[in-house]
Order: sequence, then structure tokens, then C-alpha cells
Amino acid sequence: QQDTRLARIASAIRVIPDFPKPGILFQDITTLLLDTKAFKDTIDLFVERYRDQNINVVAGVEARGFIFGPPIALAIGAKFVPMRKPNKLPGEVISEEYSLEYGTDKMEMHVGAVQPGERALIIDDLIATGGTLGAAIKLLGKLVNTNVLWASKENPLSESC
Ligand code: PRP
Repeated sequence: QQDTRLARIASAIRVIPDFPKPGILFQDITTLLLDTKAFKDTIDLFVERYRDQNINVVAGVEARGFIFGPPIALAIGAKFVPMRKPNKLPGEVISEEYSLEYGTDKMEMHVGAVQPGERALIIDDLIATGGTLGAAIKLLGKLVNTNVLWASKENPLSESC
């Protein structure tokens, strides 16, 4: 049954060549959001896997982690914490800088949103170079023990610590 759901999820993600620039094969999850069953299955698979893992925090990476993170957080009884692009959060923040193909970017979260010792799950839509998720792990790892998972067509439900 899980395989059926994964196959439906995979086929609901639209792949667009050369977006946003030549050579990039863009994985467009907006088509998954239009398929109510595939969207629900996506959330359900994460919830089934993580509901009994004593997770206190779901940390969503801007922007698409903000789509998938909150329903997972609500369903497993965890709080939701946004990991934002720089200068978006109004309170005191901690930051992590990371490399892009050209230049650097920064990710920020509110100090106090996560307490030391809490167990967190980081959610985003995909990994390309891994730079974004690596920064999220470092940022969150400054405060908590992290438990990281990701989903992609090639590797639909993988996990590392
Ligand atoms: C995309 C994607 C991941 C990141 C993965 O976000 O949603 O967050 O890239 O790439 P990486 O593994 O090479 O770091 P994007 O930079 O497009 O930002 P957005 O979601 O705010 O549009």
C-alpha cells in the first residue's frame, strides 16, 4: 500500500526542464497539491512514520517546507517553527550562512522557538546540492538533537541522523 501511495505521489510531481535556468530539471510540487489524494498521502506517510517518535518540533524550510510542515506538525502534536530567509523574522534570531552555486545565503530562526533537548524534524520539499538542508541541520543542531528526513522521487522516504 505504501508503494502505491509513493507511486501516485511521484507521478503527481511535475518535472519541468530548464527552469528556472537552462540545465535545471525543476521538480514542481504545485501539481501534487492539486491532487487531493496524493497530497494527503504525502502528509500521511510522514505522520505514520513520525507520530510515535517523540518529536516536539517540526521545522519547515522556507518556502515549500511551509506547505508540508504544518499539517505534519498538527497531526503528530508538535509545534511548527519556520526556518526563514534572512531579515524576515522580527524577533531575536540565530543564523546559519551557507554556499550557493554563486555566492552565499543565510537561514534564520527565532531564538527560543526551540528549547535545548527538544527533538526536531526538518521538512523541505527536496534536496539538490544539499546546501539548504545542511544549513538547516547546523542551525537547528546548535539548539537540539536533530532527526532529519527528506522525500524525493528517487528517494521517497529516507532518513539520516
Ligand atoms: C529549493 C528547495 C530547497 C532547496 C534545495 O528552494 O525548496 O529548499 O532549493 O536545494 P539545495 O539542496 O541545492 O540547497 P529554493 O532555493 O528554490 O527557495 P524557495 O523554496 O524559497 O523558492
